[in-house]
Amino acid sequence: MATRDERWGTRVGLVLAMAGNAVGLGNFLRFPAQAAENGGGAFLIPYLISFLLMGIPLLWVEWAIGRNGGKYGHHSTPGMFDVMGKSKLLKYIGVFGLFTNITVASYYCYIESWTLAYVWHSLIGTFKEIAPTEFFPNYLGMHEGSIFALPMEAFFFFVITLALNVWILSRGLVKGIELAAKIGMPLLFLFGAILAIRGLTLDTSSPGVIESPMVGLNFVWEPNFTGLTNPTTWLAAAGQIFFTLSVGMGSIHCYAAYVKEKQDIALNGASAGWMNEFVEVILGGTILIPIATAYLGLNVVQAATMSGSGFGLGFLTLPTLFNNWGWFAPFAGVMWFGLLFFAGVTSSLAMGQPILAFLKDEFKIERKKGALIFGAIIFALGFICVWLYPGGSFDEFDFWTGTFALVLFAFLEIIVFAYVFGMKKGWDEITRGADIVVPKIYKFIIKYVTPVFIGVVFVGALIKPSGDWVSAFNYLFSGQGWPFAADSVIGMIFHVGVENYVWFVNGEPTKEFVKDLTRILLMVVFVSIMLLVHFAWKKKRKEGKA
Ligand code: ALA
Repeated sequence: MATRDERWGTRVGLVLAMAGNAVGLGNFLRFPAQAAENGGGAFLIPYLISFLLMGIPLLWVEWAIGRNGGKYGHHSTPGMFDVMGKSKLLKYIGVFGLFTNITVASYYCYIESWTLAYVWHSLIGTFKEIAPTEFFPNYLGMHEGSIFALPMEAFFFFVITLALNVWILSRGLVKGIELAAKIGMPLLFLFGAILAIRGLTLDTSSPGVIESPMVGLNFVWEPNFTGLTNPTTWLAAAGQIFFTLSVGMGSIHCYAAYVKEKQDIALNGASAGWMNEFVEVILGGTILIPIATAYLGLNVVQAATMSGSGFGLGFLTLPTLFNNWGWFAPFAGVMWFGLLFFAGVTSSLAMGQPILAFLKDEFKIERKKGALIFGAIIFALGFICVWLYPGGSFDEFDFWTGTFALVLFAFLEIIVFAYVFGMKKGWDEITRGADIVVPKIYKFIIKYVTPVFIGVVFVGALIKPSGDWVSAFNYLFSGQGWPFAADSVIGMIFHVGVENYVWFVNGEPTKEFVKDLTRILLMVVFVSIMLLVHFAWKKKRKEGKA
């Protein structure tokens, strides 16, 4: 059994760190883009139902798995799963909890570094001279036809961002992560509130404003029921819940492992989850889309998100729009990108801690050295994301690790929790020391509803059709096969929709080559972690500890 020498300093610190883990770039960039892309208010109801039936149960399950693992001295998922049942294979399910954190952190730190660069450029007034639509692709090295580039400035900010993460992690739980959350989260709230108020008080008499920001706000917030019957909206809503809550990653488990055995997790888990939703729907919903709508009109904003540039909207449009705010423009830029940076850092720290914990628990590697090892791995993988960004490596990381692996891990973990660990023990674990009465209905939801829900989402993502679902079934029943969408999991694996699937043209590697290379790399990472887990347990057996 490993020693347990670290604990959270305070309850406020724990909840802020957990909320910081959840509140990230997903809240301010991904949520508005997903909402706009999926019909605004039509997205909201499937999203809220996904939160209640999948998000909240998974939060409780992950907190419970984490605190239970911590009791046995395990702070990363392989060990936590190992103690949940008799099978020797369980620890390999826990490999996901290291894999997703490492691989998501590799591209996430890169996005985080863009926000830092944008703070700097807002301060020095770059966006008064150059339009962000020109600046952004250049910054990323997106030159005509290239599939790789090493944009020096982007690389520099990536290294700085990573170094900052490593430094904070090396300071430990209380002096590093908890302190960063205690500073970052209040500032994030403050910046968010100022921008939201400034945005919502724009009116059509303000220079450059062509539409009331309320049009944008209504679009995001006014619920309508049309999304309920659209599987694509459900898929998008469920995917957003995973990403934004950081469930299916292994980071919540890790943070919860530092909670005392009899300390509440039910209220803490729910508070962190609800805080995330507040930040996402209230703050995330009131900044980007309403401000962009005020200056560009709702149609342009919708068209931008539909054409796939939704995620970049915050980088592409807001800096120019802030220019309408006169002397306040640089401050608005610093606040917007600053809040994104704080949101990002508090999330990436949560991706680092499980790795440090694994190295410490299983290989006795101390925190400082562990932080450096984490930094070296993220540097190597992140370099691929930076270098091969134009070839699409970054997007591959995002899809396979930030979407697919989360859903798969969440599905496996809820099955292990409800059926291997057992619902009786599981429920005791969730409710032990609880400061709220956990509604009994959640026992049923965790056992039956959530697994089916995730299963349907997973299969939906696997076989998503190219058109609508009804036409796809008509197509199938008329004997023409299933029309896999290019962005369905199967479609991606088999390069559906790619006209000329080759790795090289005239000796030059193609984007398809970059995609396949990235996928192979991700598999190598997964297998390497499996091997590490295998050796760690072999060592334990030798020492008579497993
Ligand atoms: N939960 C984190 C986010 O929303 C990963 O960005």
